[in-house]
Amino acid sequence: MRLTLRLLSSVVQRRPFYVTTPIFYVNAAPHLGHLYSAVVADTIQRFEKLVDPDCEVIFSTGTDEHGTKIQQAAANAVLSPAEYCSKISAEYRDLFKDYDVEYTDYIRTTEDRHKRAVRHFWNKLLEKDYIYKSQYSGWYSVNDEAFVPEAHVRDEVRNGQTVKVSAESGHKVEWTEETNYMFRLSAFKSHLQEWLKNDGVITPNKFQKQLQDLLENETYFPDISISRPSSRVHWAIRVPGDEDQSIYVWLDALINYLTVIGYPDNDAMLKKGRPWPADVQVVGKDILKFHGIYWPAFLMAINWHPPRRLVCHSHWTVDGSKMSKSLGNVVCPRATPVSPSALRYMLLREATMHDDANYSESKAVNIANSELADTLGNLASRCCGAALNPRGEFPPLHTHELAALEQDVSAQLMDHVERLHEVCYGHYRNYQFYKVADAVIRTLHLANVFFECHKPWELRKKLDGQKELDVVLHITMETLRICGIVLQPIIPDLSNKLLNKLQIPLDCRSWQHCEKPSWRIEGAIYETKNILSGKFVLFQRIYVDKKQKKKASA
Ligand code: MSP
Repeated sequence: MRLTLRLLSSVVQRRPFYVTTPIFYVNAAPHLGHLYSAVVADTIQRFEKLVDPDCEVIFSTGTDEHGTKIQQAAANAVLSPAEYCSKISAEYRDLFKDYDVEYTDYIRTTEDRHKRAVRHFWNKLLEKDYIYKSQYSGWYSVNDEAFVPEAHVRDEVRNGQTVKVSAESGHKVEWTEETNYMFRLSAFKSHLQEWLKNDGVITPNKFQKQLQDLLENETYFPDISISRPSSRVHWAIRVPGDEDQSIYVWLDALINYLTVIGYPDNDAMLKKGRPWPADVQVVGKDILKFHGIYWPAFLMAINWHPPRRLVCHSHWTVDGSKMSKSLGNVVCPRATPVSPSALRYMLLREATMHDDANYSESKAVNIANSELADTLGNLASRCCGAALNPRGEFPPLHTHELAALEQDVSAQLMDHVERLHEVCYGHYRNYQFYKVADAVIRTLHLANVFFECHKPWELRKKLDGQKELDVVLHITMETLRICGIVLQPIIPDLSNKLLNKLQIPLDCRSWQHCEKPSWRIEGAIYETKNILSGKFVLFQRIYVDKKQKKKASA
């Protein structure tokens, strides 16, 4: 089936697969939660390429650089907004490089191509009569860059003073009275409701339901303000034809998803294979409303389709509390005691999309040590090391010895290995990365039991034990090969290291290559006489000195 698809795709030019991350505010340095959004999207795009290596993927990320929040942060840093944005934007780029977030386009909202797209989009809304001018008075949260309806504002006592905060985010709101341009959001209520009836447009379903309820219960579905006076927000794109007004940062930011594909230049879009609607847009739960209500409405207004799917994730808390600057518990990925591969693994292994996950240093270290170092790395070192495998081989599979083995614990392992691709395929498709990691680790536990049970160190000493030893090593290495392929989207760097060690050719690492283990293929193809020689440490165990936390160097 996949082969037929591949053949077909070589004749018919297919549209690319388009995945996006939210673009990140540059008001502060990146933290663990930001990295998580990016890593989720990266895993999705890597899986897509793994399953269909011929598929072109557009994977966009970048920074959201306009608005009051950025204006204020730049002033605090005593830098011009432009210098400040470049500095933090570069920090995101560096972070993504270190954490293997392999984007194809990095967009900054201060780029000319984006300003052009935003102005064009604005003019389209105007042309279609979805914009009008009005007097706005209400609450505004600078932190969320959002207008907050009166009903969603509550009093809170902070430092002995009563302040107004947004009930949704807990961020402070301020009273605003100004002339704004408004967008006729109310005209799209029923269209949005229709769109939200499609199964899977927002996943997990819990978040789709939340939006459905919001539309259902919100008796009054007001139009929204899409501009602010330039006198207040000067660091922004001006409204075409009205220098006194700046375009609302969320409208500006959302359009980044179109800028990336060449909007509004038709030729540029065609060159990119017209990848719209986007296939997957990853968002955190705090920005679901912007992406699941405003964004599709803006698109519908210019007669474009809403995205095919929003994948919405929950949040990371730290030692049980919400991550926040004021609590001083913001986790900088580089300040964690684990390497980028281990942190990436923990983020995907621990979090589920539907519920918040909790970070602690000890959790990060324990997961890395028990799963990456002990269960995976140790097994790889043992079967590749000189003590049990002095010839440095991915040894052959001898049929007679294999038949004898299949009676015992090996049958359970082999069964797991054979089904691993099928099980994990479903989990990847459902964005349940923790289940992928779990299935792989369970298989590796069985492989460890299998290995111990056959005592390869004794076979090595037995005069006639070589063939049985070959088979034990082969099955273990074959398990590692398949696990290595399956894990590529989650821990690309470690998987690569493992597959290199096993000398698996680069063109034998796609999903189809993990669908059948060697014992189910006539004339196994992965045996090689030489695996790379020398001691092999896939992942260095982490020892944390309580006083001085050391960074592991895996
Ligand atoms: N700039 C807007 C997005 C505009 S997209 C058109 C924005 N930026 S953000 O920097 O505040 O957030 C970016 C992403 O980081 C969001 O998906 C958000 O959910 C995610 N996270 C921020 N804190 C988080 C956690 N504590 N945990 C997990 N992800 C969280 O919103």
